[in-house]
Order: sequence, then structure tokens, then C-alpha cells
Amino acid sequence: MNKFKAIIGGTGFKNLTGNFTPRTMATAYGSTTIYIGEDANDGLIFLPRHGANHTLPPHRINYRANIRALADLGVDKIIGIATVGSTNKNVPPGTVVNLSQFIDLTHGRPSTFFDGEDDQVAHADVTNPYCPVLRARLQAGAPAYELDPKPEGVYVCAEGPRLETAAEIRWIGHMGGDVVGMTGVPEAPLAREAGLCYASLALVVNWGAGIQGDHLDMEQMREMQNLVRDRVLRLARAVLLSQDKWDHCRCGTALLKP
Ligand code: HPA
Repeated sequence: MNKFKAIIGGTGFKNLTGNFTPRTMATAYGSTTIYIGEDANDGLIFLPRHGANHTLPPHRINYRANIRALADLGVDKIIGIATVGSTNKNVPPGTVVNLSQFIDLTHGRPSTFFDGEDDQVAHADVTNPYCPVLRARLQAGAPAYELDPKPEGVYVCAEGPRLETAAEIRWIGHMGGDVVGMTGVPEAPLAREAGLCYASLALVVNWGAGIQGDHLDMEQMREMQNLVRDRVLRLARAVLLSQDKWDHCRCGTALLKP
């Protein structure tokens, strides 16, 4: 079966060249709108994480509907693109990070497909929450798009929508976080629960609060994002549509059922 591949992006899907047709998908968790690629983008789906009109704040995104809709359509591989702030002095704005781990500081978000309602208890193995095969492909493919992603990085997911205090950023750095964002969780673990391969490229658009200066500047964040966004999207598209045979990974068998 010719499976679909998907890019989940915060903004910027209009910058993916080619035609995409919107389709609203109903799922057991609510509905979501996805965009199905045509012609050169055949087999590719784009899902704008914040909704078709960018109206959903991070804590209101229906992550379960998004991942369930992609799984229902037969998607087997997802690349999530996220913008983040840096909490690591060695990871300046402009850096792209090929995420390797996350720490979840969110609270109150519906974050599992297994909440016991169907008498089903299951635990996803997220020792390595991002697909190693997809991560390797992203890393290997990056130079062709003049990108040099940091090959590993720990993403800390804050609840938002407010940004962090300077003390929180210091704390996140001490706990081992390299970057901080608001949307990577539960997106990544839900993909794992659904048995899908998921990797994520994080675009560092600012220093975390208090690292430099006494306020954050939205205009600077936008500029930083524009700097790499198109190349990151093109890399994600090329990796997903590559005809090379995919190596084996364990993402499809990571659900432990007692
Ligand atoms: N904190 C949280 N999320 C973000 C940031 C940040 O500094 N920058 C972009 N997304």
C-alpha cells in the first residue's frame, strides 16, 4: 500500500510549492483539517497544527484528532516542525535541532489514546521518542538544503501560551533542556501510541527569556523563522517523498500492553 507521509507545521505551509487540497476529517476525538498534496506532492499531507486559519493556541490544539486523522488516512511517517526558544548557550537563534528527547511540562492536555474508556490499558515505550530512521534521514539530507542541524537536542514542552519567566528558563537549562516550545507534546507521544514514525525539527527563533535582554521581540522571532523555514520544509518534503527503502525501526511495535 502506498502510504501517505505528513508534515505537521506551525505556519508556512503556503511556502510548500505545489497544490494541496483541504479535507476536514472527523475522528473519534473531534475533527481537524488536513491538506492533501497533488502532482509533485502526491503522497504528502500537510497539517497546520494551529488550524487552517492559525486560530488554535498551543494548549487548545486537538493533538489527538490530528494524529488520529493522519493514522486513519494511512500515514506512516510524520515530520513535525516546531519553533522554539533556546535554553542552551551553545544553541543560538538560527540553529535547527534534530530533536532526540523531550521533557513534558504540560498539564491538563488530553495526551493519550489509552485513557481506559475502552477497558484498554497500554503504555507507549518512549525511551527514544523520535524515530531513529527518520532522524538519520533528516540529518543526512540536510546539507543539500544548506542546513546543518544539531544532531541531538532535548525539547522541553511548556504549557503556554505565555512565555517563560527568566527563572523558568534557567531551571529548564539546569534540568537538561536545550530548547523550549509549546506544541511538541503530546504530538510526539501520540504518534508513538498510534505506531507512527515521528521526528521533529526545531527552529530556534529566540534566546529563552532572560538569557539576553529583558524582553522577547516577536519581530526578531519572525525574522529568525523566515531565515530557515523554507529550507526546513523542503528538507522534510524531500525526506518523506524519497523513494529509497526505509530501514526497520521499532516505532510500530512500541506499545506495551499488560
Ligand atoms: N518559549 C516557548 N515557546 C517558544 C519560544 C520560547 O521562548 N520561542 C518560540 N516558541
